[in-house]
Amino acid sequence: MQNFDYQTPTRLIFGRGVVSELPGVMKQFGPRILLTYGGGSIRKIGLYDKVKELLAGSEVFELSGIQPNPKYDPSVLEGVRICKEKNIDVILAVGGGSVLDCSKAIAAGALYDGDPWDLISYKVRAKAALPIVDIITLAATGSEYDCGGVISRTETNDKIGYMDPHLYPAVSFLDPEYTFTVSKKQTAAGCADAMNHIMEQYFCEDSTMLNDGFMEAGLKSLMVNARKCLDNPEDYTARAEMMLTCTYGCNGIYALGNSYTGWPCHGMEHALSAYYDITHGEGLAIITPRWMEHILSEKTVDRFVKYGVNVFGIDAALDRFEIAKQAIDATYGFFESIGIPMHLREVGIDESRIDEMAHHVAENEGLENAWAPLSEKDIAEIFRASL
Ligand code: NZQ
Ligand code: ZN
Repeated sequence: MQNFDYQTPTRLIFGRGVVSELPGVMKQFGPRILLTYGGGSIRKIGLYDKVKELLAGSEVFELSGIQPNPKYDPSVLEGVRICKEKNIDVILAVGGGSVLDCSKAIAAGALYDGDPWDLISYKVRAKAALPIVDIITLAATGSEYDCGGVISRTETNDKIGYMDPHLYPAVSFLDPEYTFTVSKKQTAAGCADAMNHIMEQYFCEDSTMLNDGFMEAGLKSLMVNARKCLDNPEDYTARAEMMLTCTYGCNGIYALGNSYTGWPCHGMEHALSAYYDITHGEGLAIITPRWMEHILSEKTVDRFVKYGVNVFGIDAALDRFEIAKQAIDATYGFFESIGIPMHLREVGIDESRIDEMAHHVAENEGLENAWAPLSEKDIAEIFRASL
């Protein structure tokens, strides 16, 4: 087991109706609030009106229109401008991971004098950030429980996972009922994203029985509950378990003491959604089985055996490589069965920019240091196999 230093300062408030506690929570941070949200889903589900009603008495400014794969320009820049001009005390992010990620970058940029991109690109480390409270409405990213935000800069095809301890939300509200309206496409993509978060931590050199069991249970929980959510979008129990399993995804708790993995599928997917603005979870689902096939070797096979036997119930008596192959097929089959398009061409990506994207990933994501190291050539091969 590796050494670690771990702290999660985020308070989770979970369950039906918990948003009614919002006024008391917001009071501790000050009266001037920047409410951030996306393209309108929170209005459709009545959450916008509910929040406005609960915050009557506070001074609420708004930043709306934050897009999936949130953009530096205009959303982060506009948010920072409002925070500085209006002397904002706290940001309230209401929506999916994109709204929350964008709000994290705004929170750091608001207390920085230079160009916020300096922070996102790690040129300068943030010294502080505004407090962030969120009401998360989509089970997927785990942004509500981690200190990362993923920001896209269209003109340079960058999509950067920006992490900083100042960016943990102070408080996250999770009411599974607000996820009832999440579309089948986004429910499936959220499941694939959260499953990949676990896989990115599971496939490593050094793990423990505790962590493996936790992660295997997480994967099984996501598969079972995502299916239930797709069959019956208002199944509270399934939405609730899926939401919490997603919440743990990127905060490190699944893999305390595990060795470094490099998060290779995320490194590769960030290029796909930077260049083509595709849905993150779909990109991951497409890449994951191809990445698995690519890295399967004498060095990695035993992890695939464990995964195949414990997650998919594959016969442990079979040959190791046969188990691994069946596990990879089962991974692909599951994603396909929940309606995810499993080829890059189906999400609008063709051969034309594969080499350029592979070069971008190799330059920026450090995957030569991953558990199963990936060169630019490997990355291009995985992309081609995903076409
Ligand atoms: O924009 P609105 O109208 O709100 O609609 C959104 C959006 O169109 C909609 N939606 C959200 N909640 C809904 C709803 N529709 C109906 N009912 C609801 N309750 O869903 C669409 C997708 O929303 P988005 O926020 O983009 O999805 P998600 O939560 O999957 O976030 C994806 C982003 O998070 C990043 C991804 O790269 C991507 O940019 N990630 C962030 C991570 C983190 N901070 O830790 C880790 C992840 O690996 C991931 O990279
Ligand atoms: Zn992800």
